[in-house]
Amino acid sequence: MDRAAFRLILWGCFLISVYSSPVTRAQNVDVYSFHMNSTVTSRYATTTITSRVANKLNESQEILFEVKIPKNAFISKFRMIIEGTSYDGVVKEKAEAQQQYTQAVSRGQSAGLIKSVGRTLEEFKTSVTVAALSKVTFELTYEELLKRRLGKYELLINAQPMQTVTDFKIDVHVHEKTGISFLEVKGDLSTDDLTNAIKTTRADKDAWVTFYPTRDQQTKCKTCGENGLNGDLLITYDVERQNPNGEMTVSNGYFFHSFAPSDVSRISKNVVFIIDRSGSMHGKKMQQTRLALLKILSDLGENDHFGLITFDSRVDLWKRELLKATHANLEDAKSFVKKITDRGATDINAAVLEGVDMIKRHPREGTTSILILLTDGDPTSGETNTEKITGNVKVSIGSKFPLYCLGFGYDVNFDFLTKMSMENNGVARRIYEDSDADLQLQGFYDEVAVPLLTDIQLNYIGVSNLTQTSFNLYFNGSEIVVSGQITDNSVESVTTEIIAISKGSKVTYRDTVTAKDVSDVQPEHDNFLERLWAYLTVKQLLDRQVLLKGPEKEASKKEALNLSLKYQFVTSLTSMVVTKPQENQTEVADKPKEGATPHRPPAQRPVSHGFALLAIPEWKPLDSQMVVAQFRPASPGQRHPGSSGRKSYSHPGGVLVPDPRLTMFPKQMAMVDPPSDDTDGVSMDIAPAVRFLIPADGQPKPLCFDVPLPFKLKLLQDFASE
Ligand SMILES: *[C@@H]1O[C@H](CO)[C@@H](O)[C@H](O)[C@H]1NC(C)=O
Ligand SMILES: *[C@@H]1O[C@H](CO)[C@@H](O)[C@H](O)[C@H]1NC(C)=O
Ligand SMILES: *[C@@H]1O[C@H](CO)[C@@H](O)[C@H](O)[C@H]1NC(C)=O
Ligand SMILES: *[C@@H]1O[C@H](CO)[C@@H](O)[C@H](O)[C@H]1NC(C)=O
Ligand SMILES: *[C@@H]1O[C@H](CO)[C@@H](O)[C@H](O)[C@H]1NC(C)=O
Repeated sequence: MDRAAFRLILWGCFLISVYSSPVTRAQNVDVYSFHMNSTVTSRYATTTITSRVANKLNESQEILFEVKIPKNAFISKFRMIIEGTSYDGVVKEKAEAQQQYTQAVSRGQSAGLIKSVGRTLEEFKTSVTVAALSKVTFELTYEELLKRRLGKYELLINAQPMQTVTDFKIDVHVHEKTGISFLEVKGDLSTDDLTNAIKTTRADKDAWVTFYPTRDQQTKCKTCGENGLNGDLLITYDVERQNPNGEMTVSNGYFFHSFAPSDVSRISKNVVFIIDRSGSMHGKKMQQTRLALLKILSDLGENDHFGLITFDSRVDLWKRELLKATHANLEDAKSFVKKITDRGATDINAAVLEGVDMIKRHPREGTTSILILLTDGDPTSGETNTEKITGNVKVSIGSKFPLYCLGFGYDVNFDFLTKMSMENNGVARRIYEDSDADLQLQGFYDEVAVPLLTDIQLNYIGVSNLTQTSFNLYFNGSEIVVSGQITDNSVESVTTEIIAISKGSKVTYRDTVTAKDVSDVQPEHDNFLERLWAYLTVKQLLDRQVLLKGPEKEASKKEALNLSLKYQFVTSLTSMVVTKPQENQTEVADKPKEGATPHRPPAQRPVSHGFALLAIPEWKPLDSQMVVAQFRPASPGQRHPGSSGRKSYSHPGGVLVPDPRLTMFPKQMAMVDPPSDDTDGVSMDIAPAVRFLIPADGQPKPLCFDVPLPFKLKLLQDFASE
């Protein structure tokens, strides 16, 4: 059989195993009703998906429920109703859930439920056996606080009911008490023939969006086909802001304060871009980086000063000093950018420290400084110990300005970048390898392009359990939000005070609002502010985990866990245990870790040679579905590549060398389809089983899993050869 055909068959097997599970999706399953209902009050969005399905067969069969939800959301409820009985998912501490799950594994009856798909979504998937001619109702609720970015909030609703549905409805209600300044419906479901299925109704403080496509329309849109709708509705809006002191909402003993002034004058900035030009940036990544930089340079304010650093194992400066963004300087910088080419290894330590020095050599009154690092790989040259690098950088920056880290692609150590940026008051962002990577880079820059205030401190009287109240920088188009509990519920008024620095001088915003004015929440969402507070508190506690150590870390983890359990949020510390009616089947839903499962569509996955990241579909032991092994293609006359005493397994196409992070003992030989430049991906067929021993955090012994046939291993990503 020729190689290409062989590959195709393997891909076929894989696709079957992943995308069409054992569950029938044929005519004998009828999704007769599919409703999505989203309510947004003060940016807090609660969405419920209700899918009603009938088994039309005269025998029992398994029925699938599969939906996609935003990554930022926490699932807070899942219920199946079968023949009048409800089966509710219960959120438990991860370890406890894991135990139940492991017991289920040993009985051979379990599956992970949530996985990460694409940039913004996670997939929730489960199935249940339904008796002949019976019905099942699936109900999933998730919650999220919408974040203001570039002057707007975005509510993303993904609809993919898997078939045309007679009763299909999406209902969205947005309520913002200060008024809605604009609202738009976008997304691929809002195009062509489907536009007239969308109705938007606006009042002053409310907006309703309904999307009721007919059966006919569900097959005719661009992104849908025989299987009905498949796409997104994206609702973007912003709110009116009359009060420069921010808006206070109070309800049932909780408050939410939002602050986003836009009438402040912009602060000139000193920005240094530190650009990775190591070998792995080769090709498209480098090209997109140049493109983005050229555009970003054009967008610099005339009073901004800037610097450019490129690095591999050597660090090069465009100019030793920061220079003003004058026309002449920008032209000179652009020609420097056009000549950036990839070469060599990655010395992140030296490059970042050089950037810090550059800013420190250039103090300017009434300005603010920003350091932006773009990298696509681990440190491989100079100082390579990430602990040491983060330590060096933290000491050098000394909290004087933020460091933002942009991780390009999936080869980066994102945990390292997250820690390094958070320790220095910045954030880490992933740039996805895709045709729009340059736009992602520009988009990130746009968010930090216009600093308006620095050193912002928010103070309140008579409140407790506040979320974060001090912020380094406030950028135009973003928003500062604080939530907390009102200590004395009988107080008539709430006093807020915001102190910040604008262009070197102190500004104060003070306000007193009477509680009566601020609580105008409809009765049915009585506890939404409490949930908003819990959501924000848990998010911030989890984010801060990377900065903490020892007892402090434990305490903050415990608090986040306590709240996750109380509000039934599926977070990284909890899992939802779903017990099904048949055979005491148990499933566990875990929140996937950002970047842990890079599910990229096959067509976009170039395969070169080198380091391979493998995933086992449909199977998830811990946070991560990933196992790592190194794939090295054999070429005629090539010396058999051994790997520092670890076992390797040969195959006509190459050799599989386990990574130190993983020990892999195939009971029989692993067959690896040789990668080549024209492949979309690589699958491995392993017979009859493969055993994985994965070191687990906090456990003395590694976890052991046997993956039986017919599971296929899939090459998710390969790192460039070193
Ligand atoms: C959507 O949910 C809200 C809150 O639970 C409820 O009041 C409303 O009636 C629902 N709307 C629809 C169309 O089901
Ligand atoms: C299901 O229907 C088919 C024909 O429609 C019939 O042959 C079969 O016996 C039925 N099975 C059961 C379990 O009723
Ligand atoms: C902030 O952005 C808004 C529009 O998004 C704009 O009208 C305003 O002028 C900006 N403010 C500054 C200081 O650039
Ligand atoms: C959370 O903490 C409170 C007080 O610290 C305690 O009373 C409560 O039982 C805890 N809840 C859970 C679910 O652990
Ligand atoms: C289900 O669990 C219950 C209690 O744990 C047990 O008594 C019963 O035998 C189990 N049923 C099956 C089919 O395993």
